Amino acid sequence: MAAPTTTTQEEQASPPQEPKPYTVTLIPGDGIGPEVVDATVQVLEATGLLFEWETQEAGAEVVGKYGTALPDQVVTSILKNRIALKGPVATPIGTGFASVNVTLRKRLGLYANVRPARCLPGIKTPFPNVDLIVVRENSEDLYSGIEHVVVPGVVESLKIITEVASTRIARHAFDYARTNGRKKVTAVHKANIMKLSDGLFLDCCKRVSREYTDIDYEEMIVDNCCMQLVTRPQQFDVMVMENLYGDIVSDLASGLVGGLGVTGSANIGPDATVYEAVHGSAPDIAGKGLANPTAVLMSSVMMLRDLNETATADRVEKAILSVFSKGKYLTRDLGGTATTAEYVSAVIGAMGA
Ligand code: NAI
Repeated sequence: MAAPTTTTQEEQASPPQEPKPYTVTLIPGDGIGPEVVDATVQVLEATGLLFEWETQEAGAEVVGKYGTALPDQVVTSILKNRIALKGPVATPIGTGFASVNVTLRKRLGLYANVRPARCLPGIKTPFPNVDLIVVRENSEDLYSGIEHVVVPGVVESLKIITEVASTRIARHAFDYARTNGRKKVTAVHKANIMKLSDGLFLDCCKRVSREYTDIDYEEMIVDNCCMQLVTRPQQFDVMVMENLYGDIVSDLASGLVGGLGVTGSANIGPDATVYEAVHGSAPDIAGKGLANPTAVLMSSVMMLRDLNETATADRVEKAILSVFSKGKYLTRDLGGTATTAEYVSAVIGAMGA
């Protein structure tokens, strides 16, 4: 008779699980895009987390290859992975293909663009203690792209504002404020002139504000808001606005905290989030190794937080801030002389410390 087989407790336990990588759609984009995205990938890989990068080509430089700046597979990949890290993409001015960014936001339903701007240690700025968040409506307004020539010399461009989109973005801003311990939401508008469109946006914000009695609410006309931003920016906390104002005001806010090289963003929808810098493809410095990758890096920190990788997000952010505090490896846009590669090495070095 065969002896009964015995199994040890160790054999019974299931084998240790390999950590699963995060699959992320990676869009290098145009101009400085590949440089700043590659820099960010280097930092993320140095964290020890596992990533599977699904690289997708989009932008002005691939039109010849695919006949479009936004091949369908880019959208498919993002919808499958639900997250994308994107470099800037160039858009021709006045003529040519429609903006990849606007099209991507529309096709993926990325209705909210969250753009934080906050002073960083060691970076000289006109004002101390700026720490604000622009929540930009991302799906309509003048970016609907509905334009036509009425008669030669007269062009009509339609501004679309809907109750659904305005209510949704207002709620996003208040939810963001509540979740992130913020105290106030400012709705920015021009309802004194565009009484119907901006009037509707403002009504929606006002209505939503009544559901959030724990968050202060105020309204400000966009021109006054710009003046206030360049005289007393510390008064702002979370700001919510339509697409065009959000585009402009968030660049202005970047200028208050060190420029376009340092501000990241997230384009958020129900099916996917696309993380990208606020800046564009910067053709003037592309290919020279001079680009500041902080904006995409900060966007990747937002991505890590959304993935609940809070400790890693904190580690990357602290490393960036420590490099800034020391001031030795700043890129040219911040008054330093470091190349992209030198800055990235410094950040990776600071992460290990
Ligand atoms: P831009 O943001 O590319 O550049 C403006 C200025 O900021 C330039 O002097 C540039 O050298 C500097 N700059 C921008 N990012 C920098 C960085 N990371 N490090 C150091 N300096 C940086 O704006 P511009 O010139 O108006 O647009 C260029 C192209 O980018 C256009 O085709 C535009 O449509 C596109 N664009 C794309 C965006 C996106 O993909 N999300 C956003 C904004 C513009």
